[in-house]
Amino acid sequence: MIMLRPMLHAAARSAAARSVVERSPLTRPVVRRFIAGDSVGEAVDTTGDLLATGRLVTLDRLGEDTTNAEAADATVRAYQELLKRLADKGFTDRAEVSVKLSAVGQKLDTGLTLDNARRICAAAGEVGATVTLDMEDHTTTDATLAVLRELRRDFPWVGAVLQAYLRRTEADCRDLATAGSRIRLCKGAYAEPASVAFATKPEVDLSYVRCLKALMAGSGYPMVASHDPRLIAIAGTLAANAGRTSDSFEYQMLYGIRPTEQQRLADEGNRIRVYLPYGTEWYGYFMRRLAERPANLTFFLRSLATKN
Ligand code: FDA
Repeated sequence: MIMLRPMLHAAARSAAARSVVERSPLTRPVVRRFIAGDSVGEAVDTTGDLLATGRLVTLDRLGEDTTNAEAADATVRAYQELLKRLADKGFTDRAEVSVKLSAVGQKLDTGLTLDNARRICAAAGEVGATVTLDMEDHTTTDATLAVLRELRRDFPWVGAVLQAYLRRTEADCRDLATAGSRIRLCKGAYAEPASVAFATKPEVDLSYVRCLKALMAGSGYPMVASHDPRLIAIAGTLAANAGRTSDSFEYQMLYGIRPTEQQRLADEGNRIRVYLPYGTEWYGYFMRRLAERPANLTFFLRSLATKN
């Protein structure tokens, strides 16, 4: 199982593997466990279903590593349409958007990326929604945090993801645990070298706890993005020790993962937000979900086998 992880990360970057996985009609039902659907309409409908259960939502229009300005512009327009549809339904007090900077030009040009991110933030601001910047591989961390700083001058509610597997992140958490700052702390989902990242689960988990301590003790708004039962329990204790009320931080989980636990947290009066991806560019996201938990691969392969 351990050897599967690097293979799945390699497959995530392979055009040949992508073509095989994407073209198989048998992939669809498994992908749908993690993704709302191809269209913005399906994403908004699923958002309504989740909000009705007392959960909050952040929507991700799938797509990453955009290689031209037209595609980056199309991403911005897709987010603008999404935000309008959410506003039409009256959802923007409980549903926000998550954005990958590589989908709006990070691999092309810094000025273009910032302009495009600003356009999405302006659209969100108009309808009273917030925006959180996803974090991609470690070569983009500094650039993403620089864009965050710029955006927050005009849109102080913009948040960002930090990844506990990176050695630098405890210090980033301390820097960003300031008033108004929204930080989504996750473990990290990319294949990273040991020079920049902790390699073992215990090291990553310990780093996550140190980062959580910094965020909970600070004056920002921590977003605890994990499905790990131990870390969820520790987050609750740290929040209580820091004198936080249930509206001063939130839990977050991915769509399709531990839905019963999501509902339990909501029913107990906690803020819990579901990260809901949609769109046709699901390949990279889907492969990272398989790599995180190789048991998902068995589930995936078994479903292929039983359909044959
Ligand atoms: P861990 O992987 O240890 O899992 C703990 C338990 O959760 C498992 O035992 C299992 O029960 C369940 N579980 C976890 N993953 C599962 C899966 N794929 N399928 C089924 N069950 C699973 N990463 C990143 O690099 N950049 C980012 O911007 C984001 N953004 C983000 C937002 C939100 C809201 C979440 C919840 C996560 C992310 N991530 C992310 C992904 C994150 O880095 C990490 O890979 C996953 O959350 C898995 O880590 P856990 O903390 O859940 O722990």
